[in-house]
Amino acid sequence: MDAERFFDELLSVRMNADRTAVDIIDQTLLPGTRKRICLSTREEIWEAIKKLRVRGAPAIGVCAACGIALLASKIEAADYAHFFEEFRKEKEYLASSRPTAVNLFWALNRMEDCVKKHEEMPLRELCELLFAEAERIREEDVQISRSIGEIGFRLLSELKQKGREIGILTHCNAGTLATAKYGTATAPMYVALEHGWAGQEIHVYCDETRPLLQGARLTALELHSAGIRTTLQCDNMASILMKSGKIDIVFVGCDRVAANGDAANKIGTSGVAILAKHYGIPFYVCAPSSTIDMRTPTGAEIPIEMRDPDEVTEMWYRERMAPDGVDVYNPAFDVTDHELITGIITEKGLCTAPYGAAFRQLGM
Ligand code: MRU
Repeated sequence: MDAERFFDELLSVRMNADRTAVDIIDQTLLPGTRKRICLSTREEIWEAIKKLRVRGAPAIGVCAACGIALLASKIEAADYAHFFEEFRKEKEYLASSRPTAVNLFWALNRMEDCVKKHEEMPLRELCELLFAEAERIREEDVQISRSIGEIGFRLLSELKQKGREIGILTHCNAGTLATAKYGTATAPMYVALEHGWAGQEIHVYCDETRPLLQGARLTALELHSAGIRTTLQCDNMASILMKSGKIDIVFVGCDRVAANGDAANKIGTSGVAILAKHYGIPFYVCAPSSTIDMRTPTGAEIPIEMRDPDEVTEMWYRERMAPDGVDVYNPAFDVTDHELITGIITEKGLCTAPYGAAFRQLGM
């Protein structure tokens, strides 16, 4: 695999060269079609996040940062007060696109802090700073996920000493498409390749992740293209895989970690954690520190997005497979209790219970 080409082809989000649009790969078309689209209006940016054209907590954050920088550059205001008022409106609008991933709010708040810190600056220069801040958020995410990958890689190296293929289970997509480069849950695998592993020492089992199939459409695409041994299974097959001894470790991403370590991630993750506990398999959540929300005390306070029933009643390709009018339950995320989590891997270090103290020790 030519690694740089691989990451380039799947690059989730960036500002376009002349800074007139946010450039994303439309993830709703994958794996069949690789198409980049340009988002240049507030409605286009909002819709792309809402409809999961760009998705995954860190990528949503980067998209929002680029988006707000772009929208700020279009504000016509005579003075700072008017500019700030308009900026706040754009920010609130983008923040209303999805409720669970805290990175969206984290990135928008960081952009607002930048505006507040430079009140005295001419507005044109302030807008330049906002573009630079958005790019900094993107670049930092690359470093952050690489650091997460190094820690996860050490765990894989310990397993490798057993001398057989390492079975890894993952759920949803916390991969390159969900971040600026390495992914979070996939970072240990990509870093392993950078350390010279061939890709066949590890065997990644991807849950397909109903209803929107991020595991099948996105994670399996990524890992398979990267030359990593990849197997796809339906979500209800995780138990038999674990029971048959094929899984040594679970890595998942997350959308928000509460102060007590409860972690919200794609619907179905908590079930995987319960299974892993039952079968004695270590279960790791991979999370940039921006995903840890110390202002949310426990998982019970994490807002869970409820999505369109059609996502359940129609298959991804829009073929109806449930009776008309049936009630549908379609939460997009669930919360894994901190007792089920072996460790939370952040770029600052590996946290274990008690999580509140561990997070505070790392300065969160
Ligand atoms: O609804 P999605 O596809 O945005 O859900 C994404 C996830 O649940 C990811 O695991 C999470 O955002 C972490 S991405 C590094």
